[in-house]
Amino acid sequence: MAENETPKPEQSPSVEGEDVENESGDVVDPWTVTSKSAKGVDYDKLITRFGSQKIEPELLQRMEKVTGKPLHHLLKREIFFSQRDLSQILDSYEQGKPFFLYTGRGPSSEAMHLGHLIPFIFTKYLQDTFDVPLVIQMTDDEKFLWRDLSIEEAHRLAYENAKDIIACGFDIKKTFIFSDIDYIGSSSDFYMNMLRIQRCVTFSQVRAIFGFNDSDSIGKISFPAIQAAPSFSNSFPQIFGGKTDIACLIPCAIDQDPYFRMTRDAAPKLGYPKPALIHSQFFPALQGAQTKMSASDPTSSIFLTDSDADIKTKIEKYAYSGGGATVEEHREKGGDCEIDISYQYLKFFMEDDEKLQQLKQDYTSGKLLTGELKKVLIDTLQPLIRKHREKRAEVTNEIVKEFMTPRKLDFDYSK
Ligand code: TYM
Repeated sequence: MAENETPKPEQSPSVEGEDVENESGDVVDPWTVTSKSAKGVDYDKLITRFGSQKIEPELLQRMEKVTGKPLHHLLKREIFFSQRDLSQILDSYEQGKPFFLYTGRGPSSEAMHLGHLIPFIFTKYLQDTFDVPLVIQMTDDEKFLWRDLSIEEAHRLAYENAKDIIACGFDIKKTFIFSDIDYIGSSSDFYMNMLRIQRCVTFSQVRAIFGFNDSDSIGKISFPAIQAAPSFSNSFPQIFGGKTDIACLIPCAIDQDPYFRMTRDAAPKLGYPKPALIHSQFFPALQGAQTKMSASDPTSSIFLTDSDADIKTKIEKYAYSGGGATVEEHREKGGDCEIDISYQYLKFFMEDDEKLQQLKQDYTSGKLLTGELKKVLIDTLQPLIRKHREKRAEVTNEIVKEFMTPRKLDFDYSK
């Protein structure tokens, strides 16, 4: 994107302290996702509030045409629903110009949960579809600053979580995973970009975007520059040969957007392209869509380490039902898929469109009972998580080390 573009502030509707709820009662920021509605966050309102764009059917058609590959079900079902400058990434791709993918994880817990898998499953699809390099930032520094964790523990968790990420099947020749603690300590190029970003973003801007206040540590206040830096290709000279103009696409859930509003505002001031984004909705907590699945509340989550028996118990015991109070009432009035957690989870993980449609029809009509729908979910998730556990067990420390070593990737940046 134009280096000489006049710096325009990104639409940044959050004002001081306003990452609290808007008029719809929704709170969405990198730390909190809550809604007062049983249907969860009002994503149309959120798009307006954040100033991003809805992914329109025309854009999806174009994506299918440009790549010549079928759309992922997470796109077809509008779970990835919002974007910034995605059409420019498609332009680059069509013109044979390279771009790269960037995503990340804040390693705050030993085990990742099903919700965390969403952006990584989708990123793997993007990597396979576009055949592009990928950088994955493990923000162990962020978790040290925000959580009650020692540096050593946060750093260890970065390596533990990397195993779950690798188990999603990323191409080792095209993927660099890094712990901030390790990489920032070894790369003056990354650190120089952090400094450039830090110089052009003021305290008042980060306070407005993130709601920081006087008692937040200066570590937190300067952290957003660290999450911004991987958006710029010259933070990785070993991959991009020092080039500053390689376009970046960031897949993430929409809670991370505030970081990238800030990044996109800073980019033109530094002569760098603005990163493009593709945002997903949240995988809801077992108890209902008022909150997202969160590792800090174990009963809200199905973890990637859960056994078949754990999965069964959690779904049977906690998954919020949109069914009738009694069998009779359910048969008469039917269930509400919009609020039913088993149906919502199947929307994320059942790939077969026809089967999902049939389940929706049968549950809505009352033909299918909550217990039966829960059983379909259990039968879908048990093999999926079992397979993930097996793949994770195959990830040795050597493989992790290779993914996490700064190195040249299989990528021609000379174009
Ligand atoms: P973290 O560890 O909170 O989340 C990792 C990724 O998972 C997404 N996510 C979810 N997606 C769907 N449903 C959920 N319930 C859910 N919970 C979390 C997050 O949006 C994220 O994409 N600061 C970041 C780490 C990071 C990052 C990035 C993320 C660094 N650079 C670039 C995305 C892109 C964090 O703590 O993510």
